[in-house]
Amino acid sequence: MSESRIHNAALRGKIMSADEAAAFIHPGDNVGVSGFTGSGHPKSVPQALARRVTAAAERGETFRVGLWTGASTAPECDGALFKANGVSMRLPYQSDPECRNRINSGEADYTDVHLSHVAQNAAWGHYGKLNVALIEVVAILEDGRLVPSTAVGNNPTWLELADKVILEVNAAQDTRLEGMHDIYNIALPPHRQPIALVAPADRIGDPYLRVDPEKIVAVVETNCSDRDNKFSAPDENSRLIAGHILDFLQHEVKKGRIPANLLPLQSGVGNIANAVMAGLNDGPFDNLTAYTEVLQDGMLDMIRSGKLVCASATAVSLSAKALADLFANMDEYRKSIILRPQEVSNNPEIIRRLGTISMNGMLEADIYGNVNSTHVMGTRMMNGLGGSGDFARNAYLSIFMTPSLAKDGALSCIVPMVSHVDHTEHDVQVLVTEQGLADLRGLSPRQRAKVVIEKCAHPNFRAALTDYYRRAEAGANGKHTPHLLDEALSWHVKVLRDGKM
Ligand code: COA
Repeated sequence: MSESRIHNAALRGKIMSADEAAAFIHPGDNVGVSGFTGSGHPKSVPQALARRVTAAAERGETFRVGLWTGASTAPECDGALFKANGVSMRLPYQSDPECRNRINSGEADYTDVHLSHVAQNAAWGHYGKLNVALIEVVAILEDGRLVPSTAVGNNPTWLELADKVILEVNAAQDTRLEGMHDIYNIALPPHRQPIALVAPADRIGDPYLRVDPEKIVAVVETNCSDRDNKFSAPDENSRLIAGHILDFLQHEVKKGRIPANLLPLQSGVGNIANAVMAGLNDGPFDNLTAYTEVLQDGMLDMIRSGKLVCASATAVSLSAKALADLFANMDEYRKSIILRPQEVSNNPEIIRRLGTISMNGMLEADIYGNVNSTHVMGTRMMNGLGGSGDFARNAYLSIFMTPSLAKDGALSCIVPMVSHVDHTEHDVQVLVTEQGLADLRGLSPRQRAKVVIEKCAHPNFRAALTDYYRRAEAGANGKHTPHLLDEALSWHVKVLRDGKM
């Protein structure tokens, strides 16, 4: 494929194997890789690096790197490197079992960061020096510009900051991705300017990534698909959650607060978020738009059906079937999809301006509306908060959703006090479970507690939550947000002891 995808002759001279390219990465380096929710990640060099890590361990040496990404990657990247125990520090979001295990066993450090913050934090040097950028691209133009892949993420920043650049040119990615991206760089303060994006379909940058060619040390050819991001078919709970959200949005339209085609949608990761999109696809709204970070199968279905006229994101995260559909019908889909750096897709300034309707998953919420999206029983990392915080604080509507029960009914996802807070009560406007929807806007904590218990808690736990709240109201020192501090986390303590609440 060299000639057809690598049009720059000098860079064709740097084509080498993944093993040769991985030799440019040294123990202790920080490596910024492409990749966002299982798409656009490097497929080959990380595995070669993992082999070096394993070989070093066999010689009794330690070989570990800092691994910075856009978001989660896949078994060929996070999976391989964490299996070899080759990562000392990971940021800003992951969802890989090998990675999660190393984090929760304390073998790897993890910084869980708002996705819009990562590029500027890196540029300010808060994560240390970036030694190597390892970026998947679709093609290299004759003048050295790069055609981005299925995820943009933090690639512009990694290419800018790294001393050395390794490119993976992936023949499995469709060349018609060219032109789908909008790469816009945000300057650091005090040079930062207003971002001139006033609608999801606006283009403000240029379709290519740029890099100083002198920094490119290796070009590796690959031919490997993105991760198959399988979604389960919407179950009864997801359908009920979607139904509550649809009714609520219709109510908002009737009230005249939002237009008939709603405001731009942001949909989080996971099965429930995907199911809500399926609900919207069958729902009464037309001419919808999305300003989101990741485009899952549900949104692709909505583009195909004509319900969604434009989707702006930083990555596509699709099942193998949906990815095949995207590539088979690329000329049609590319009219509606724009991929941007995550610093733009998740930018608080833009999210506040557009007034997104943001729908994200959570593990648990408490009776006052605080949300835990990340920590199982307060200490074990699930995935990370991703972009949920970027959107929650700045959206027109920040909606968090979950089934009311987890682990076959052993756990209530509505608890007296969350065991970890990702989104405070101030950032959470609506909570939804299959039981119902709690609109918390304008309510005091005591009013919220009653609505959350009544609308969202499962009947199996409603009486216990009401009992806790009544005793807290009677016995708490302060009546503004009544809690019994010696009991507030007792539901979680019971799980650690008995396996159920
Ligand atoms: N306590 C412990 N575990 C819980 C739980 C709770 N209260 N609620 C759910 N879980 C477990 C489920 O049992 C399931 O475990 P399993 O993988 O072992 O089966 C897992 O969490 C996922 O739950 P599921 O109901 O399948 O939800 P999901 O796929 O919609 O994911 C989150 C939910 C919270 C994990 C996911 O939305 C997430 O990672 N969110 C944070 C990042 C984010 O919001 N990104 C989008 C921003 S744009």
